[in-house]
Amino acid sequence: MDPHNRVVILTGASAGIGAATARAFAAAGARLVLAARSHEPLERLAAALPGALAVPTDVSDPGQCRALVETAVSRYGQVDLLINNAGVGLAGPVATLASAALERALAVDLFGPLWLMQAVAPLMRAQGQGQIINVSTVLAEQPLPYLGGYAAAKAALERLSEAMRMELRGTGVRVTVVRPGSTRTGFSGHRLGAGREVRRVAPRGVPPEAVARTILRAARREPARAYVTVGDRVGIWAARLVPSLVESLLSRVIAWDHTAEPEQERSLP
Ligand SMILES: NC(=O)c1ccc[n+]([C@@H]2O[C@H](COP(=O)([O-])OP(=O)(O)OC[C@H]3O[C@@H](n4cnc5c(N)ncnc54)[C@H](OP(=O)(O)O)[C@@H]3O)[C@@H](O)[C@H]2O)c1
Repeated sequence: MDPHNRVVILTGASAGIGAATARAFAAAGARLVLAARSHEPLERLAAALPGALAVPTDVSDPGQCRALVETAVSRYGQVDLLINNAGVGLAGPVATLASAALERALAVDLFGPLWLMQAVAPLMRAQGQGQIINVSTVLAEQPLPYLGGYAAAKAALERLSEAMRMELRGTGVRVTVVRPGSTRTGFSGHRLGAGREVRRVAPRGVPPEAVARTILRAARREPARAYVTVGDRVGIWAARLVPSLVESLLSRVIAWDHTAEPEQERSLP
């Protein structure tokens, strides 16, 4: 769809990829409904973008998700595009993963998008058109050691997205998964779990604006799945073609340091 004049709900808009995506869609003429928990950066961003509305929302709360969609409908009368971008990382060896941390990651990365998909799907069906874009990660297909909890949450989100795409076939409503790789945001600094993985080789990562451009293109072209870089796509192909080689390589180049502070500067997918 052409985003011009379309009503777009975008979660995780207060920072990183979400803030860059908000700017990209505003430049394309979309009418934005921006959601995240932090009021201040959200209000500041909305004030800087023409026609944008800030609706502070914790996506892990189903009531707040319903209220977000109701606010968009009462303001604009419709929802054309939902972008489930809010997310949180989780680091730690699977053997010692704390259930509370995993439950929190699932609440934000899986259940939040689900509550919002459930709130917009009937509306979009009635409109006869709409799109849902779920921001996943390349790790949903090929996890890294020590990021298994996060990869599991995003893999579950991808399976829900694929099933829903089939369920909505013929209704005019499309479901797209965007799979970024390493992106330079504050994501690693915000993630759950203590300690961090140590990599012998670490990707530099792309700027959040590159992911925002991919999301904008995904809105225009409505593919089932979209990657940000050729390298991400090639990495997934390699993992499918020679899985044991890829696993052996990854387990050799990534170790766990339970005493290390989380990284602040560079994000890992
Ligand atoms: N950075 C990477 O390397 C990378 C790679 C692949 C995929 N991704 C995915 O890209 C998406 C955006 O990540 P990012 O890199 O932009 O991370 P980020 O800079 O940490 O931003 C995360 C955003 O999600 C929001 N958020 C977190 N918990 C929330 C909740 N409970 N309710 C509502 N909003 C919430 C945050 O705002 P508040 O704290 O204000 O709520 C913030 O706006 C995530 O889904 C992530 O999994 C990131």
